[in-house]
Amino acid sequence: MSETLAIASGKGGVGKTTISVNLALTHSNLNKCLLLDADMGMANAHILLGINPKTSVRDVIEGNISLEKAIVKGPNNIQFLSGGSGITELLSVDETKKFNFIRSFESLSNKVDNLYVDVSAGADEMALNMISASDKLLIVLVNEPTSFMDAFTLIKVCNLELKFKEFCIVTNMVSSEHHGKLVFEKFKEIVTKFYDVNLNHIGSLLNMKEIKNSVLKKQPIVLNKQNKNIISLFNRLLNNVNNASKNTHNGIKFFNNSIK
Ligand SMILES: Nc1ncnc2c1ncn2[C@@H]1O[C@H](COP(=O)(O)OP(=O)(O)O)[C@@H](O)[C@H]1O
Ligand SMILES: [Mg+2]
Repeated sequence: MSETLAIASGKGGVGKTTISVNLALTHSNLNKCLLLDADMGMANAHILLGINPKTSVRDVIEGNISLEKAIVKGPNNIQFLSGGSGITELLSVDETKKFNFIRSFESLSNKVDNLYVDVSAGADEMALNMISASDKLLIVLVNEPTSFMDAFTLIKVCNLELKFKEFCIVTNMVSSEHHGKLVFEKFKEIVTKFYDVNLNHIGSLLNMKEIKNSVLKKQPIVLNKQNKNIISLFNRLLNNVNNASKNTHNGIKFFNNSIK
């Protein structure tokens, strides 16, 4: 059964794409994975992957190309659907086309074990459609009031509107594992005061110059075998997110719509 993980944050620039790309590449060592760059306005997962696909989500939504044909292969045999680039991607998407796009993933269920969705910042309709179509949601949190505020709002909307109850949290750009735990606990206390949700801390990513450099080099950090600690960290994050509970909300999903 194919499973989908959406990676979101509310706030931009907190590490969603970095984490989506490296987590999906880590998982590609074990399973058939597809990374969907759903950040159509600011698509950049292809840059981190070091590839330059000619087709994008927009082409599939508009019916110019089939979903299967638009998918390209990247490092570790990862399957990838680019978010494209340029301002035209920001044009609003027709509802029916969007839902047909989501439904069309079912045709890939034999080719994809795990779908990773790099969601755009904010909590607009497109972001919420992508999250709602996923089984699990991983929220990237950094220790800044704006990140707390936006992640809080995202959880609120996902809980009240989408009926999500399970949220995975990764604390990013922290100074130590311990600091990451403290940041998570502080956030959890605020959220659970208002909402009956489960927050699952899957781990922390420290603020590291290797990560910044990997973007400049266009080489994902987990592909450099010398980065043993970072590779084992991403394996731990993966393990924890795999063990996390799925949401049991209704609505149109990328996969398994017939199974309730
Ligand atoms: N743990 C980290 N340490 C250092 N830099 C990081 C870390 N995580 C992300 N970054 C950097 O922060 C910037 C924004 O990351 P990105 O993944 O593009 O965020 P988002 O997708 O949320 O907008 C990038 O330059 C990235 O290299
Ligand atoms: Mg991004």
